[in-house]
Amino acid sequence: MAKITHAQWSSRLTFILAATGSAVGLGNIWKFPYMVGESGGAAFVLVYLICIALVGLPILVAEWMLGRRGQKNPINTMIDVARQEGRSKAWGLVGVSGVLVAFIILSFYSVIGGWSLSYTLGSVTGAFSGQDADAIGELFNGLLADSGTLLLWHSVFMILVIGIVARGVTAGLEGAVRTMMPALGILLLVLVGYGMFSGHFGETLSFMFNPDWSALGGDIILAAMGQAFFTLSLGMGIMLAYGSYLGKEVNLLSTAATVIILDTLFALVAGLAIFPIVFANGLDLSSGPGLIFVTLPLAFGNMTGGVILGLLFFLLLTFAALTSAISLLEPVVETVEERTPLSRTWATLVAGAATWALGIAALLSFNAWADVTLLGLSIFDFLDNLTSKYLMPLTGLAAIVFVGWFLNKEGVVQELKLGSTGALLWHVTSRFIAPIGVIIVFISSL
Ligand code: TRP
Repeated sequence: MAKITHAQWSSRLTFILAATGSAVGLGNIWKFPYMVGESGGAAFVLVYLICIALVGLPILVAEWMLGRRGQKNPINTMIDVARQEGRSKAWGLVGVSGVLVAFIILSFYSVIGGWSLSYTLGSVTGAFSGQDADAIGELFNGLLADSGTLLLWHSVFMILVIGIVARGVTAGLEGAVRTMMPALGILLLVLVGYGMFSGHFGETLSFMFNPDWSALGGDIILAAMGQAFFTLSLGMGIMLAYGSYLGKEVNLLSTAATVIILDTLFALVAGLAIFPIVFANGLDLSSGPGLIFVTLPLAFGNMTGGVILGLLFFLLLTFAALTSAISLLEPVVETVEERTPLSRTWATLVAGAATWALGIAALLSFNAWADVTLLGLSIFDFLDNLTSKYLMPLTGLAAIVFVGWFLNKEGVVQELKLGSTGALLWHVTSRFIAPIGVIIVFISSL
């Protein structure tokens, strides 16, 4: 990934682009707004921001640190680092859980990536032009009901991901991230500008930032924390794998802060773009995973230049989803490759095919298998809840506990280039604030 011949700033920039490519994705633009809508707005947003700062930042740093030390796939990295520090091999289980998380998330992530592909095509054919809210809603429901079409787009998306990962050209995507991410950001800002003239921008601001604390329950807090993990690609696997590409000279804390700020901006701006459309059209705030697909086409379909803007938007969203999806498949492939005799190509095909198959169960839960439930949830919701609310926070907790309590303290302080105050802050955060935060959230949800 980072070329050694590059100057320091350049390899740091390269890394930031790669990590941002993983972090910014459907989680920011598709998932964040609909979760805010479902959870009643500002209280969720504020808990989310607190989780990002107090839990997300230290865990991101912890995962990169472990990855930089271990230099292998997540499982072997955990085993090796634990061994170096004279700890039990059982820490490898953290890596196992991480790889499992990546595998499960990618299965349903690809289904949504498929929706984005399908809407890219819909923009080209002018399917949204001049349509009203009902017609746009019907279009979306039609897509959900049509398992054949869902399967087609899910497969196209997975084939793209497998193709890129198999050829090992992931590193070559940084140049693309560099141009496409800003373009996506600008388009979102255009939508925010559009929303400002809708007459519902004030309502949006108060919905997103003026909390009604009485709406806050344990489940919403858990959902907000899960979203913080999801959006930062935490919960092991990927950031750990990326850490192994990090040069020794890169400052982990400032790099993490940069990636986190970029990621959070994308989510907040996406919310500011979408809610004015919801309020202006009297749409349902809690329409769930369909939210951006019933709001944005409505805006694009009724604005000048909307066909081009809509096409560009869904194309860029698909791209952002692809760069995240690649980062989800990578740790699974690395693990299969290093632990079986399979070549990289075969490892990618096997891991990709397994993910694709699980994705089919996820997409059928919108139609043929709508009545099939696991613990009272549809298959799609089950996979999402299992990973975001439980597996990711638990593996993240293990990572921060390991770094906070079991790594040599002086080594960590040196690696983070901390002074005495910084060392104290890091110490308190990594040992107490972050782990206790995760535990409190768990307990409050019970
Ligand atoms: N962070 C990505 C998003 O917001 C999703 C993602 C990519 C992810 N890699 C991950 C989530 C690893 C959890 C773990 O869309």
